[in-house]
Amino acid sequence: MFSPRSFASLTALAGALIIGFTSCKKEGGNANADEIVIGEVAAMTGGTATFGTSSHAGTQMAIDEINAAGGLLGKKLKLITEDDQSKQGEAGTVAKKLISREKIVALLGEVASGKSLEMGPIAQKAGVPMISPASTNPKVTEVGDYVFRICFIDPFQGTVMAKFAMSRGWKKVAILTDTKQDYSVGLAQFFKEYFAKNGGTITGEQSYGSGDKDFKAQLTAIKAGAPDAIFASGYYNETGLIAAQARELGITAPLLGGDGWDSPSLVEVAGKAIEGSFFSNHFSNEDKSPKIQDFVKRFQAKHGKTPDAMAALGYDSAMILADAIKRAGTTEGKALRDAIATTKDFDGITGKITLDEKRNANKSAVVLTIKDGKFSFVESLAP
Ligand code: PHE
Repeated sequence: MFSPRSFASLTALAGALIIGFTSCKKEGGNANADEIVIGEVAAMTGGTATFGTSSHAGTQMAIDEINAAGGLLGKKLKLITEDDQSKQGEAGTVAKKLISREKIVALLGEVASGKSLEMGPIAQKAGVPMISPASTNPKVTEVGDYVFRICFIDPFQGTVMAKFAMSRGWKKVAILTDTKQDYSVGLAQFFKEYFAKNGGTITGEQSYGSGDKDFKAQLTAIKAGAPDAIFASGYYNETGLIAAQARELGITAPLLGGDGWDSPSLVEVAGKAIEGSFFSNHFSNEDKSPKIQDFVKRFQAKHGKTPDAMAALGYDSAMILADAIKRAGTTEGKALRDAIATTKDFDGITGKITLDEKRNANKSAVVLTIKDGKFSFVESLAP
């Protein structure tokens, strides 16, 4: 029999053991909380604000749905979102803050490749898995084995648009690049490589920097080369202005671009000038598949607007992370990284997602055109 005293010391010992055990079990730095904390870096304000507000809306919707279904590993998910104000430099700063102060178990973001390129080395160094929903520049995931993306990459996207131009019989194309964006520079290069190798002619190459408002000099030079189309690989804001100014200068050639055009602001800025132009994207909300239409309906009910590609990709990025946490059974960095890396045939809104050994996804792209102020589906191209 134990004396009351030895019983008391036994209880104390058991208590100490329990405390010791829980602190050993520390998961992602958030040991005793009943929440799994996930960080998100998004451009909620500034030059690419629709990228951030949209991807965040999709990401948050996924988190809310997971929590409504009971959460993960017996805990609720908590999403902490930091606004990088669309500023180069700021994405890295807020990523650091999320990792050191909030002890996040994983990092979601960014949309723009230049920002993801800033965040990658920080996540890698801290051993915190990062998933970019939408950054397509190849360099993003080359940073290290903790950095993933769930979208296709620009060598594919550039090829899709080069093939598309050729299928329309457009053999002479001018290039207009935003040299401040890794995304724009890369995409233009991949377009050019495929197009020139397959018999196309580049009539001229012009450039600008994000934030510029006057593109008349570049467009005048482009007009002199009489191209059949202009490949404008920048983001939506500048592209809207470029389209408007091209028409003012009497250029009637269609504009071609990539996913960076995907924003309701494109049409708001360009008006009729962007009608009949084409861009590649990850998703069409006109897709008739029941899974997509159901997503579109849920998103509309929650946010009062139609989801664009970033919304769908943000949603998929959070769902893929959740799937990996479930499979890992833990939020410990290395185990979670390994689980994300083995994502296979995940049935996402933006397609079937399998991550390859370079932590990229091979997925189809869609080509959209602007018709009556709306993005309208033209065709889908498999990798
Ligand atoms: N792919 C773009 C980039 O890497 C970002 C983007 C994705 C923009 C999807 C719009 C839609 O910078």
